[in-house]
Amino acid sequence: MPKNANLHGAKKAKNDEFYTQYSDIEREMNAYIEFNPDVFRGKTILLPCDDPEWSNFTKYFAQNFETLGLKKLISTSYAANSKPSEIPYQLTLFETASPKYDEKKTRTRGKIFTLTRDVNNDKKINIDDLEFDYLEGDGDFRSAEIKKLRDEADIIITNPPFSLFTEFWPWVIESGKQFAFIVNKNSVTNKDVFPYIMGNKVWSGREEWGGGMWFETVNKEDVDRYVDGKMMKNVPSIWVTNIDHGRRHQPLPLMSMQDNVKYSRHKEVKNIGYKEYVNYDAIEVPYTDSIPSDYDGLMGVPISFLDKFCPEQFEILGESLILAKPIKEYIESDAVYSKGGPAFYTKISDKHYKRIYDRIVIKHKEPK
Ligand SMILES: C[S@@+](CC[C@H](N)C(=O)[O-])C[C@H]1O[C@@H](n2cnc3c(N)ncnc32)[C@H](O)[C@@H]1O
Repeated sequence: MPKNANLHGAKKAKNDEFYTQYSDIEREMNAYIEFNPDVFRGKTILLPCDDPEWSNFTKYFAQNFETLGLKKLISTSYAANSKPSEIPYQLTLFETASPKYDEKKTRTRGKIFTLTRDVNNDKKINIDDLEFDYLEGDGDFRSAEIKKLRDEADIIITNPPFSLFTEFWPWVIESGKQFAFIVNKNSVTNKDVFPYIMGNKVWSGREEWGGGMWFETVNKEDVDRYVDGKMMKNVPSIWVTNIDHGRRHQPLPLMSMQDNVKYSRHKEVKNIGYKEYVNYDAIEVPYTDSIPSDYDGLMGVPISFLDKFCPEQFEILGESLILAKPIKEYIESDAVYSKGGPAFYTKISDKHYKRIYDRIVIKHKEPK
């Protein structure tokens, strides 16, 4: 491998070490439970790509094992030696005090923690009953060993390594299981992901998109703020899931087209109205809250619309990356415009065209 490729790989992997806050996990799971109180009852939950000794995912599900009515909790981690060398490695008492502790395995093997029964006979099943062992391999989610655990599980929940998203996505989808995991916001327009969102098979979680999510980081050089001595990093991320929750069934309150033109708080819409695209038969709606309630044609809206997508209110027809027709076919040969991949364009003035950022095309189910 060339020297640079190695460095590059290490840099990318380093950015995978973001640890999810307990409150973020709790808020998201509560939304699923609110919608269906038995959502986790009798289920086996797999938390892959975790760090069970430290992870709030393991903590949350172990602490709530009985309340949620879980059948089994499985949490696995990736071996220290398979992670970039800069990642600090700290042995826990949990491991060293265990009769299974083996100093030859501790860095090379992944770890597995399971919870199924009252091991310490205190009449409760909770975090103190987690059973520990080493995996045969390093805990890579792509390994046959972890795939077997995936197939045993009913629900997969985690914050996977962002750099391996394109491999994690098909790994989850091909399992046919229920899931909830954290991704970078941009992932929703990925060509392998978008069809699932458009087909209403996968959706955004309960957590709203604004402001990004805060994670604990181990990278001293990339800290956004310190909270109680912990290094925190803000990452533009969201939950994606196929577990239902109430927020996505709440329709967006909207004004009519006429009222938007009169009262919109956006200068691009107020007293101006909506432009039509030059290279696609739809109108440009620059903000989700400017969607006119009574328009019955196609509308291009920002990607962040997905945060507010209510499938009873709207239908998604596609995204500009796929739907935009070649702009050259619609404009003068000496026209001025920014070039790039497929995108919608609007006309600014004679022979001047504006390239519009990625859009999702939607229509009202019942315009009113
Ligand atoms: C974003 S962190 C999240 C950790 C934990 N789920 C949490 O949120 O607290 C992703 C974890 O996946 C691990 N990882 C990286 N590559 C992996 C792989 N191929 N298989 C399994 N885990 C991997 C990383 O080392 C890191 O610990």
